[in-house]
Order: sequence, then structure tokens, then C-alpha cells
Amino acid sequence: MNNIRYNIKNENEKVKLNGWVSKKRNLGGLLFIDLRDRSGIIQLVVRPDNKNYELASTLKNESTIGVTGTIVKRESINKNLKTGEIEVIVDELKLYSMSKDIPFEISNDTTALEDTRLKYRYLDLRRENLKNNMITRAKTLKSIREYLDSLDFLEMETPVLCKSTPEGARDFLVPSRVQKGSFYALPQSPQLFKQLLMVSGFERYYQIAKCFRDEDLRADRQPEFTQLDMEMSFVNEEDVMNMTEGLFKKVFKDIINYDIKLPLLRMTYDEAMEKYGSDKPDMRFEMLINDITDIFKDTEIPFLKSSLDNGNIINCLVCKNAADKYSRKEIDKLTDFVKKYKASGLAFLKVVENELNGSIKGLTEKEIKALKEKLKLENNDLVLIVTSNYKITKDSLGALRCKLGRDLGLIDPDDYKFLWVTDFPTFEWSEEENRFVATHHPFTMTKESDVDKLLTDKKHCYSKAYDIVCNGYEAGGGSIRIHDEKVQEKMFEALELTQEQIENKFGWFVEALKYGCPPHGGLAVGLERLIMLLCKTTNIRDVMAFPKTASASDLMSEAPNIVDESQLKELGIKLDI
Ligand code: AMO
Repeated sequence: MNNIRYNIKNENEKVKLNGWVSKKRNLGGLLFIDLRDRSGIIQLVVRPDNKNYELASTLKNESTIGVTGTIVKRESINKNLKTGEIEVIVDELKLYSMSKDIPFEISNDTTALEDTRLKYRYLDLRRENLKNNMITRAKTLKSIREYLDSLDFLEMETPVLCKSTPEGARDFLVPSRVQKGSFYALPQSPQLFKQLLMVSGFERYYQIAKCFRDEDLRADRQPEFTQLDMEMSFVNEEDVMNMTEGLFKKVFKDIINYDIKLPLLRMTYDEAMEKYGSDKPDMRFEMLINDITDIFKDTEIPFLKSSLDNGNIINCLVCKNAADKYSRKEIDKLTDFVKKYKASGLAFLKVVENELNGSIKGLTEKEIKALKEKLKLENNDLVLIVTSNYKITKDSLGALRCKLGRDLGLIDPDDYKFLWVTDFPTFEWSEEENRFVATHHPFTMTKESDVDKLLTDKKHCYSKAYDIVCNGYEAGGGSIRIHDEKVQEKMFEALELTQEQIENKFGWFVEALKYGCPPHGGLAVGLERLIMLLCKTTNIRDVMAFPKTASASDLMSEAPNIVDESQLKELGIKLDI
């Protein structure tokens, strides 16, 4: 890892170098080799009279070699290389391992398919940008550890083979051989264990924890990912949020020399949904969602009237000065887009020479005036309208807002906009399960004023929960926990768990709350999300050494895979597929 340590000041020094043949060319008999190691590239020169000339000529790209030689000044300087002023005249050359022909070129702008690159991930990791991401990851961990250590956090580990902890996803299960028919679950997070460490009196804990969730994968989700998991005793929301803000400030300064201005903006969940249609709003551009329900309260336009009669709302986005960019065909594409979020359609109006034209016919003068005033409409503005129930309206316009922000180039890619989203509803309605489920997890403390409503008015209970959001990503989330066993039992009851289920699933945990449990709270940062932000990538695979595909496979080792019949037998498992 020495290559880029050398420069013109080392002229005439004898050096010993190891690395990979990145490139080789023959110019008038002289062999030039770009030798690459983790630090970078240095140029070697092998002269025709060198005893290893023959060997050097046969070297294939990506072979590993060791050389000794002398640093000399280059005739023509390469400004793109840190070592561009020098080269090494080779004396001795040793071939450690000749490479096969490589399946794709090791270059930042490779056109190789991602599947090929994942199959040969160890080669892909030789590319400069992926290598740098891994280095950023390591530096980030170091910076995190320095910060938490300075605040007396203790790094502790918790089990990976454990009992299921509900975080909202499906568990990965591991069969027990010793106790046939019983299963461990891989942790979706160390949630309960870190709370127990607070009961044990450790007061400030952290862990770089592997978490496992069997859920649908997206560009920012992996089945196996890493959390920076933290927990503190005798704290309130402010304490956890302040500690986390300090952490982000240090990491962004250390790693990319970016100054985060503190304190971060705070926004309640309700406000985020109302204005941005998302609990992780991208604040790098404006384009808020406008509620225009009132303007149409007496409307005679059939589809709006019937929607309002069904208790729906009418909301819209305004794209400033963009009407001419959207033909009917383009708007049809946007309509297809919102339909993915269950909206039945997308109405539009364009401001053309002070008139409102578009798919809504028969607007009254009063409605036109109110729209112009409320939305501050100007020539060439485009208004995109959805009417549906609250959730569908906000979800679809929230997603459309982000798409338009990207498509219209409203986002500065070098910008970071952080905020806290707070006051999450304690429960959310699950269509799938036809009942209220915990928005965060069942150990999150409800606001004191709402504890009495836990069983009677679930819709209006809010939690002491907070998410740290950056550029539309949920970078981390946490809460103050329930430390009172009675409130915890009430919460389980609210989640419609029977006494028997509570006892079975969480009896061991509730018991611990009875032995002097400190008030406590914490947060977990998605480490990959944090590094994605630092590396400015939108693909989580770019920041993990050995990631999985969208169908949760490792293309290199071909996991998951079948196992021997004898292994299944030992576990008492018969397959039925
Ligand atoms: P939560 O479920 O919000 O909270 O997870 C914390 C953070 O982890 C990241 N994250 C993921 N990253 C990559 N792939 C995934 N599949 C994935 N799922 C989550 C996100 C998220 O903000 N126990 C609580 C934390 C706490 O309350 O202290 C928890 O796990 O960045």
C-alpha cells in the first residue's frame, strides 16, 4: 500500500513495491506497467536489457507482481496521477500470480452488467470508485467510534441467534439441531437486547450491528444490513437527538469536510405528510403539496363532486414555468406513475396566457380565481391534481413530487438537507392485517398525554419517536422506550396480543422491566444509508463489499442454496416444495 507515498522528492531512491498490473504498453521496446495497489497507481519501466524483460512482456492485466527499482523523474508528467511526476526503473521483477483473462475491464466507467460484476465481486471491488466507497465506510466507522467513545458509550455485542424481535419485517429463521422443531430468528435489530443492557445499568451502549430482514428489496434496502445501534439511560428525546446531531456533524466533517448547521430542522410527521406526502421529505427543493379541497366545496364538476361526496380530498402540485415541458403524452406517463400509488388518475391544468386549460372542464370563475390566488399561478405553470382518500392522495403526490424534482433538475446533487421528523402516530392501519400495528415497534413510548388513549382512541395516539432524514432517505430512527411494565402490557394489549401471546413472545422482556428499569431511549442509524449519502450514490450495493441482488441472492457464492439431505435430516426437516 505504498505506491502513492512516492513523489519527486524520492528521486533516485531504491524502492520495493507490490501490486496488480493495471495496464501494460510497449513503446519502442520499453515496457510501461501501471502498478496498482490500494493506495493508487505508479508507473514501472522495464528496459529491453532487463533480465526479466521476457517475463514482463507476458504479464497479463490484473496479475500480481513484486518489483524493486529506482525512482526517476518522468519525461512527460501525467497530471492525473498523484505519482505522475515519477516512474520506477525496474531492477528485479517477481510474478506472484498470473491472472486469467478478466471477465470485464477494471475501470470506473465499466459497461459490464451488474450481475457479472456481482458474480466476480472481488474484481469489481478493484475498481477505484467501489474501493473508495469501502475506504469511506471504514473511515466512517472510525469517526463514529471516536465520537461515541468520547461520550462514554460502551461498545457491546448482542446475540445473532435469538428469539424473534418484531420490527415489522419477516424474520430469517435458523433451525435448531439440538432442539428439533425449534427455531432461532436472526435479529431484525438488537432492540430488546439493547434495552436489557439499560436494565443492566450500562447507561450508554452502542454496537455496529448486523440486522436481517426478509422484506421486499429496494435500491436502499438489503436483507442483511448494518445499523449503528445506540441506547442511553435517563434521557429524553432532546438528549438522543442532540447526541445524534453531534455524531452526524462530526462524521460529515471528518469524511467529506461538509459543515452541517445545527440544530437540524424539525417537522412533525403530520406536517411532513401534509406538505411533502412523505415521512422522509426531500427538502432540497420546494414544490409543496397544496390542499385545494375547499376551493371545490360547491363544485359541479362531476368527478370532483363525487370524490368529495365520498369524503375524499383534492390536492395538487404546481410545477413552476414547466407547462410547455409536458405534452399530453408526458402527462399520461405521469398519470401511469401516480396509478402505481393507487391514485385513480391525474388531472392537470396549464396556465396559458392567463387562462387555465387542461383536463378539468367547466371551472367556474370563482374557482379559477381561487386557484390562481391560492397557488400564486403564473404563466406557463403546470398544476397536477389528485383526488382520493388522504393516504392515497398524499402518497401519490409525494412520490410524484420527488420524480418531478429529479426530472425537472430541481435538486442540487451536492446539497444535503437534514431534518428530524417527530411525533409519529403510535399506530398505523394495516390493510393486510386489518388492524392497527405499531408504526415503529411496540416498545416505543407514547406521548404521556396519549397513554390513556392507547386502548380507546388509537388513531390519535402519538409517539416519542424521531427519524433523522436526509435528502429523502430515512438515515436513522429511534424513540424513547416504555420503561413501565404496565404501559408495556397495555401497548401489547392495544396491538391485540392475547395475554398468552404476550407471555409467550415477550414474557422474558416484560419481566426485566420489573427490576428497576431506567427511563431510556435510543436510535439506530442505517450505516449503509449514511455511507450512501457520504458517497453520493443511490444504490446500496455500492457501499457494501458483498451485497445481495434484488432477489436476495449472492451471485458469487450462489447463496441461498440447497443443502445435503443429511443436514436436513439432522435438523428434523422435511421439504415440501
Ligand atoms: P428502524 O427499523 O427504523 O429502527 O431501522 C433503523 C435504520 O436502519 C436502516 N434500515 C435499513 N437499511 C438497509 N436495508 C434495510 N432493509 C433496512 N431497514 C432499516 C434505516 C433505518 O432508519 N430498533 C429500531 C431502532 C431504535 O428504535 O433504536 C430500528 O431498527 O436507515
